[in-house]
Amino acid sequence: MKRICAGNWKMFKTATEARAYAQRFAELLPSIPEHVEIVLCPPFTALQAVRGVLAGTRVKLGAQNMYWESSGAFTGEISAPMLLDLGVEYVILGHSERRHYFGETDEDVRRKTAAALQAGLTPIVAVGESLGIRDAGTALEHVVAQTRAALAGLDATAVANVVLAYEPVWAIGTGRNCDAAEANTIMHAMRIAVDGLAGVPILYGGSMKPENVAHYAAQPDIDGGLVGGASLDPDSFARLAQGAA
Ligand code: PGA
Repeated sequence: MKRICAGNWKMFKTATEARAYAQRFAELLPSIPEHVEIVLCPPFTALQAVRGVLAGTRVKLGAQNMYWESSGAFTGEISAPMLLDLGVEYVILGHSERRHYFGETDEDVRRKTAAALQAGLTPIVAVGESLGIRDAGTALEHVVAQTRAALAGLDATAVANVVLAYEPVWAIGTGRNCDAAEANTIMHAMRIAVDGLAGVPILYGGSMKPENVAHYAAQPDIDGGLVGGASLDPDSFARLAQGAA
């Protein structure tokens, strides 16, 4: 089974810093088994720099967001064709920080997901429940609703090209990772509840580290990781990717 390890750098690293990272990561790449797909998602401003160093390697490039229109008077936005032209193949959509700080709605995520697929990008659609929702016992209902909303209107062929990321919001950047078996239970239930997810890769995200990745990798419904903090150092991310194998 193919594994995916995606590094979400968030708003970290200048283009210069990204280039240095990519140079070090290129040295480490042979230590990561081939069946682990590596995706680096730097800020927009560093995509070109990372590509410059890692073009021709098996590392894939991802963006952290995009707008659903392909061009137009949308100051400050970035479109799918712009990303494709830079060699980008993946795009993270609906990350909880986008939803929380920038007011992205389920409908925004749906439009972006459809646009990404239409353009030939692979969306990594992020869903996850807050602590309040978890404590209320409705985490599964919440993530199923988010997933259904993001995929609404897509046919089975399109859904087959999606990657999902289950990221409990309370586990993101907190050092408080979700127990692997518990995450697997939710992810398994998502697969059953949402049409077309049987063969779709689902990544876990939320304080994944080289030290805990093996617990996730051992779970039947976890196909890899969406990694924030532990992806910011090339040695740490390479160790994590080894563990994900
Ligand atoms: P974290 O972030 O690994 O730093 O918890 C994960 C994410 O936000 O995708």
